[in-house]
Amino acid sequence: MDPTQNPPSPDSWWKNGIVYQIYPRSFQDSDGDGIGDLRGIRQRLDYLVALGVDAVWISPIYPSPMADFGYDISDYCAFDARFGTLADFDELVRGAHALGLKVILDFVPNHTSDQHPWFMQSRSSRQDPKRDWYIWRDPAPDGGPPNNCLSNFGGPAWTLDAATGQYYLHSFLREQPDLDWRNPDVRAAVYEALRFWLRRGVDGFRIDVLYHLVKDALFRDNPANPAFVPGGDPSHSLLPLYTADLPEVQDIVREMRAVVDAFSNAQGERVLIGELYLPLARLMAYYGLDSNGVLQGVQLPFNFQLIGAQWQADVIHRLVHDYEAALPPGAAPNWVLGNHDKPRIASRVGPLRARLAAMLLLTLRGTPTLYYGDEIGMTDVSIPPDEVQDPFEKNEPGKGLGRDPQRTPMQWSTGAHAGFSQGKPWLRLADDWATHNVDLQQADAASMLALYRRLIALRRAEPALHAGAWEPVDAGADVVAYARSFAQRRLVVLLNFAEAPRDVDGSVVGAKADVLASTRPERAGLQGGLLTLQALEGVVLACANE
Ligand code: NOJ
Ligand code: MG
Repeated sequence: MDPTQNPPSPDSWWKNGIVYQIYPRSFQDSDGDGIGDLRGIRQRLDYLVALGVDAVWISPIYPSPMADFGYDISDYCAFDARFGTLADFDELVRGAHALGLKVILDFVPNHTSDQHPWFMQSRSSRQDPKRDWYIWRDPAPDGGPPNNCLSNFGGPAWTLDAATGQYYLHSFLREQPDLDWRNPDVRAAVYEALRFWLRRGVDGFRIDVLYHLVKDALFRDNPANPAFVPGGDPSHSLLPLYTADLPEVQDIVREMRAVVDAFSNAQGERVLIGELYLPLARLMAYYGLDSNGVLQGVQLPFNFQLIGAQWQADVIHRLVHDYEAALPPGAAPNWVLGNHDKPRIASRVGPLRARLAAMLLLTLRGTPTLYYGDEIGMTDVSIPPDEVQDPFEKNEPGKGLGRDPQRTPMQWSTGAHAGFSQGKPWLRLADDWATHNVDLQQADAASMLALYRRLIALRRAEPALHAGAWEPVDAGADVVAYARSFAQRRLVVLLNFAEAPRDVDGSVVGAKADVLASTRPERAGLQGGLLTLQALEGVVLACANE
């Protein structure tokens, strides 16, 4: 994969490659039940290879009552029949590996389903040996919850179990009780589940809400958030001082890293990707830099800054600069534009800016993660109230917090149900599926898909893009500009965020430059040597060696 290294180093796939997130319910259904599945993913591996990605991350497919669509797991070492069998998965992994694709599973250690046998035992009696696998507390003196902690999905984070007279903690739904990570038996059991999958050949894990794993030993109240705007996400009314990013989480991160490292070999390292919504300085702590300069944390702490950023040149320039500056020595950067929890990029910034965003994502230094469907410019789909599926929307209706809009079925073709399923999809398709789909875009050189393929091919072909250095370039207001270089090769990326053309001083690229890519299909080259960017145009230029 990396032409500069022969044979490739074991870490090159996750450092230099591209990760593609599949939301399995919505990617491809193979059996007509309207729910995407493992065989469906297998049918689409060729598409992923043609797109040019290196690894797929599959959102949870374990047995689950689906209160939170798989993020409520009732068995860590099996699959939900709706998605397929272990044999289907083994075949998927074999097929993916044969095509050079890595497979990353989603893993949810903070909580299980309330239907997990561990929790059913735990709640069965105060004396049960698994009682202390979860977080149980006596009621407050007034009979209410033990402290003020709030669920991320609305309401208190505590639910009373009437039969045993205690409350249990759930950072998300009441159907998702939190495990007690202070208990060594819990750690051992969950690490054993990780090993189960590592033995089956998975190449890594995306770890759900990694920063939430440990809670305050004294169960103190979280303080009020002075910046909270009433009407917003109610869980943000408190600062998560005693419920997130506690120092003890770092011990667990190191332990998990040791578990996966034990399975790394010459063919490849196993990777840990951490889901972390944290301020920059705290995010960096999850690389786990120790006093010997060794990185012992997760290899890729997810960098979500582009997901929440205001889409303005100065804002984007500053956040890239600050992120690069904050990285510990040797740490591998990464970038994310969208996921199953956040509005889609094409809806956040509009279709033309989404093309600029694609170029940004695929030319920055660091592993890009693509969210399925963004490569064809899929947009958020408004879901009528009687079709809502997401529990977050059901708990907090009408606040724009629901996540169904970004989880609609992949638009493959003009065939029945967009080629997603033979049956009625579990969630409605976007209205535009007959005109916006993979088949049509494949045949259209001006399409979003064609742009993604060109940019991914360029990133793969150019060591400067997948493995090179990054350095900011000053190209004037409204233009985000940087250079990527490797050995003697220097590329300059110019992204015009303005809705009008912008002239860029030719000195940023030197005497002569070739256009390797543009977000606007109509550019032929550099007219007359002048660097005039069209409105909302991004270009990748190769500087001639002087
Ligand atoms: C983060 C996941 O990305 C989200 O989809 C899920 O609902 C919560 N964690 C709870 O597991
Ligand atoms: Mg199915």
